[in-house]
Amino acid sequence: MQYRKFGKCDFEISSLGFGCMRLPILNGKSGDIDEPQAIGLIRHAIDRGVNYVDTAYPYHDYQSEVLVGKALKDGYREKVKLATKMPVWLVKEYSDFDKYLNEQLKKLDVEYIDMYLLHALDKNRIDELEKIGIYKFLDEALKDGRIKYAGFSFHDDVNTFKRIVDAYNWSFCQIQYNFMDENYQAGKEGLEYAASKGLAVVIMEPLKGGKLAKNPPNEVQAIYNTAVNKKSPANWALSWVWNHPEVTLLLSGMNSMEQVDENIDTASKALPNSFITEEVEVMDKVKAKYKELLKIGCTACEYCLPCPAGVNIPHNFSLYNEVYMYNDLAGAKGTYNHWIDPKSRASSCVECGKCEKACPQHLSIRALLKDVHTTLGQ
Ligand SMILES: NC(=O)c1ccc[n+]([C@@H]2O[C@H](COP(=O)([O-])OP(=O)(O)OC[C@H]3O[C@@H](n4cnc5c(N)ncnc54)[C@H](OP(=O)(O)O)[C@@H]3O)[C@@H](O)[C@H]2O)c1
Ligand code: SF4
Ligand code: SF4
Repeated sequence: MQYRKFGKCDFEISSLGFGCMRLPILNGKSGDIDEPQAIGLIRHAIDRGVNYVDTAYPYHDYQSEVLVGKALKDGYREKVKLATKMPVWLVKEYSDFDKYLNEQLKKLDVEYIDMYLLHALDKNRIDELEKIGIYKFLDEALKDGRIKYAGFSFHDDVNTFKRIVDAYNWSFCQIQYNFMDENYQAGKEGLEYAASKGLAVVIMEPLKGGKLAKNPPNEVQAIYNTAVNKKSPANWALSWVWNHPEVTLLLSGMNSMEQVDENIDTASKALPNSFITEEVEVMDKVKAKYKELLKIGCTACEYCLPCPAGVNIPHNFSLYNEVYMYNDLAGAKGTYNHWIDPKSRASSCVECGKCEKACPQHLSIRALLKDVHTTLGQ
């Protein structure tokens, strides 16, 4: 295993962390975790040198923290830094901070949490939390020892990210980063900014939730096949992330022994700045090829927003593109029908035409939204 210094803190962390959001389940139910298998995977990873385990209050229908608590019995707790996240969207008043942290300590059955994150911050949430007194709460929880290090995970634009980085004495942050999302949300600019301020940077979704590891389109696989140093698509994608010296560790949500072993083997070899020129070129070609597979040339500039009917136009287009780029119709349909607010879906378009006047790409947004709904609607 390779270890990297955790920002300005005086310890090192394995470059691969175990993400507990995609554990093996039974009967297709997220909350029905296959306990023996999940515990076996987490302990096997720790036995092979992983020393960071990441969970959160809502994962697996609120059961992930309980499972992680069980996995860390029998001497495993002392071998890892345990990370979990406060469900900040449930916090309405100051006393809720204590309520959720204390409940999480109970669910995990631990005395303290090493890495405590505010979960999924964006510009609206940080404003609300600041009004309620979030920094006072973090100071107190650090002082009384219930948490050892404070951080946040993030989903919004890079300017909001920088503002949050500068607002508190964080030890770390967690951002989405992979070779297709280099300039998305915090992105490379945010990664470099946080690292320059001494924060450890934890990466989530390094395989885009698995999309970059499975069924690459034939055209993409053909590019991988040209490389002298052969690697699996998962190995390419993870090594690309680890090649960045600003990355402290990445989390992968592994759900089989093969995935755990493969990712640990990759982690032991993928040092910062270790890509040779040929590997950089392969990744550049792979990125370009994925982009060629885009069906709708939406650049997510958001000039078309707000839509008076509430349609999130770029999000709908991005999901539609994923069907063709990542061979993932089922995943895109699932997100469209279950995760997007019905008002934001393509089907809410009332065809007023306002967005088309604003779109610098001159997209026929109304017609395209109809295609999106025909493809992704139930
Ligand atoms: N704070 C937040 O807002 C937030 C958001 C997202 C994630 N996270 C955290 O970050 C962690 C990592 O994100 P993620 O789970 O999306 O990571 P990821 O590595 O992008 O995706 C994990 C998925 O990739 C596939 N995979 C992993 N290793 C593989 C391999 N060697 N070969 C083939 N496929 C492989 C598996 O897919 P299959 O299941 O299809 O096999 C696995 O479920 C999460 O588990 C969670 O702890 C936090
Ligand atoms: S045409 Fe549809 S998507 Fe565009 S602004 Fe009007 S309602 Fe919104
Ligand atoms: S204005 Fe056009 S390119 Fe920009 S987000 Fe909207 S649809 Fe996409």
